[in-house]
Amino acid sequence: MDNFIFQNPTKIIFGKDSENEVGKEISKYSKKILLHYGGGSIKKTGLYDKVIQSLKKENIEYIELSGVKPNPRLSLVREGIKICRDNGINFILAIGGGSVIDSSKAISFGVPYDGDVWDLFLGKAVVESAIPLGTILTIPAAGSESSTGCVITNEEGGYKRAVNSELIYPRFSILNPELAFTLPKYQVACGVTDILSHLMERYFTNTKNVELMDRLIESTMKTVINNIPIILKQNDNYEAWSEVMWSGTIAHNNLLNTGRVGDWGSHDIEHELSGIYDVPHGAGLAVVFPAWMKYVYMQDIQRFAQFAVRVWNVENTFWSPEKTALEGIEKLKEFLKSIGMPGNLTELGIYDDRLEEMADKCTNSDRTTVGNFVKLGKTDVFNVLKLAK
Ligand code: NZQ
Ligand code: ZN
Repeated sequence: MDNFIFQNPTKIIFGKDSENEVGKEISKYSKKILLHYGGGSIKKTGLYDKVIQSLKKENIEYIELSGVKPNPRLSLVREGIKICRDNGINFILAIGGGSVIDSSKAISFGVPYDGDVWDLFLGKAVVESAIPLGTILTIPAAGSESSTGCVITNEEGGYKRAVNSELIYPRFSILNPELAFTLPKYQVACGVTDILSHLMERYFTNTKNVELMDRLIESTMKTVINNIPIILKQNDNYEAWSEVMWSGTIAHNNLLNTGRVGDWGSHDIEHELSGIYDVPHGAGLAVVFPAWMKYVYMQDIQRFAQFAVRVWNVENTFWSPEKTALEGIEKLKEFLKSIGMPGNLTELGIYDDRLEEMADKCTNSDRTTVGNFVKLGKTDVFNVLKLAK
């Protein structure tokens, strides 16, 4: 196990009716906020009205900025920064999923930054300060409600890039599993695929002697795999949603990568798909991750065999760990298909013509390789994309 420091400061407020606490929580930080949300699901579900009531009760003034799209756009981030600066706003409330939360995070470090916020995504500067933010999560998926990550798409050129900073951990995140009841099935499946991917990115490591984290990751994966069929049959099953929502946070709050180095190549490759084709992050991962696995499993067949046996209940064929490893990858593919995810790039509407461009964009910036378990250069990324066809 490697040395590590672990500190996740996000306060989690979990359970039924927890959204009614939002006004009280915010009043610890500010009396004037930016209320940031997406395309309107929060109005249809009634969540918006509850939040407004809670804010009014605490005399919190708010300015709204809605319209965050999945794969959140840089132009709206710039608009949010201007609103905060012009109105002396020093707190952001994000209501939604990873896209709204990431848009809020980018605004939060864009406000004090003396330059264009995209600089921070290009590595021209690092985040040195950020105004605080809180979240009400409406979809278990990205884990942004308790992560250091922020992923934004620059419409000019179709670049999707990330910033990581401990300064953008939300101060609090409100998780009421009931808020997920209204999610369309496809969105549920995209979210689950992202959660599993965050776990698998951490699982495939070269660090040795990491049994505790291996087993915690495996049990989080199994919890998600066991509960999702229940949700797909009965979308208002509170207990199943509770398991999945909390798993989504645990999967990405940095606990499960303590003492080890994760991979993250599949995420970097997927961001090229979302950047150009605007596909949902989870759907892109459903196609990229199994292809990545097929490309790299020889790096550590035993680890892939362990994944197959412990997570997917594949019989351990000791005489051929490779057979076991490959069966595990197939089980993952079958599972993703069973929940409605695409099985290849063509099903996602992505054809051959821009594979090379994506491989190039992925590896020609501040980094020339992606991934840690196996470092992949441009040709490797191209090969992974070809395997995903
Ligand atoms: O915009 P509205 O109308 O709210 O609809 C949203 C959106 O269309 C809808 N939705 C959300 N909650 C709902 C609901 N519809 C009905 N009922 C509800 N309760 O779902 C759609 C997708 O929302 P989005 O926020 O895009 O989903 P997700 O949470 O999967 O976030 C994806 C984004 O997060 C980034 C991804 O790259 C992608 O841009 N990620 C962020 C990470 C981080 N910051 O740590 C890590 C991840 O790896 C990921 O990259
Ligand atoms: Zn992800």
